[in-house]
Amino acid sequence: MNTATIQTVTNNPANITEQFYADVIKGLHSTPKQLSSKYFYDAVGDKLFQDLMNCDEYYPTNCELEIFTEQTAEICQALMSNGDAFDLIELGAGDAMKSTYLLKYLLEQKADFHYLPIDISDNVINYLNMTLPVTLPGLQVTGLNGDYFDMLKKAASLSKRRKVVLFLGSNVGNMPVSDAEEFCKQLRNHLSSGDMLLVGIDLKKNPKTVLAAYNDKDGITKRFNLNLLDRINRELGADFNVAKFEHYPTYDPETGACKSYLISLDDQQVKIRGKETIGFAKDEYIYMEISQKYNVIQTNQMAAGAGFKPLNIFFDTKKWFIDAIWLAE
Ligand code: AVI
Repeated sequence: MNTATIQTVTNNPANITEQFYADVIKGLHSTPKQLSSKYFYDAVGDKLFQDLMNCDEYYPTNCELEIFTEQTAEICQALMSNGDAFDLIELGAGDAMKSTYLLKYLLEQKADFHYLPIDISDNVINYLNMTLPVTLPGLQVTGLNGDYFDMLKKAASLSKRRKVVLFLGSNVGNMPVSDAEEFCKQLRNHLSSGDMLLVGIDLKKNPKTVLAAYNDKDGITKRFNLNLLDRINRELGADFNVAKFEHYPTYDPETGACKSYLISLDDQQVKIRGKETIGFAKDEYIYMEISQKYNVIQTNQMAAGAGFKPLNIFFDTKKWFIDAIWLAE
């Protein structure tokens, strides 16, 4: 029978909550205050992000989807290389909607591969474990729930096959440039020569187009940001009055940095777990997220600086977004 193989490796939930608490306390005691956007993605945040990807203004998903649907064969042929067995590892898999196009094509080609989606959200991994066997019979899946590098190590310990890593959706943009460079170096260090990275990167474009994507008229991005305060209330016993914070997105065309902030509308105090008190001045901001935009030259430089050779670049028709294949040298 042609059935999917499913296996899940999960992190301890108590450790995850304690790490979340430590990061929140550290971030809110910093100057300026900040919260990590990696915590946007609880069940509510996952749903809001799905809504965001379907809204008119948020273009990156459609651009990358066009690349994956129109250039599936070319991308897969490049990833399959000489046809040897490989592990296809997806960092931040989400609903795996885009990668499903690749997975389907690879199964049709009878490619010898194993799919390992990695996600910080256990909801996501549970969802993939339930749905992929139905949509893609025959797929071998091992869902890995946790931090990217911990789970990459885990993946390396599970098999010696060649690794092809997917890092889609411009997730690399959610780091400042220097962190992204460091991240690519670390990623390279977790790979061997001959392994590959397929990375989705959002390009610089008309600043109004970029800003609108992070300031949609239906206020989904605003709710997406505010949900992190709600999540802190729910999971860490805090008492944020979410109505007293306002979403403030910015885009700087010179640097390509698109940043989101939450602005405190009043002098106010917030208690976390009944023991930590955080004071906010009126108009004080919390730095929430960066969504960095690049040009193609910068992406090639980032590849080379991290020890990768850029092999292919796939553009959407508007040339707003790229999926690049980098070879570990
Ligand atoms: C997941 N990431 C690439 C999204 C982005 O575009 O930075 C997250 C997001 N934040 C606001 N809208 C979308």
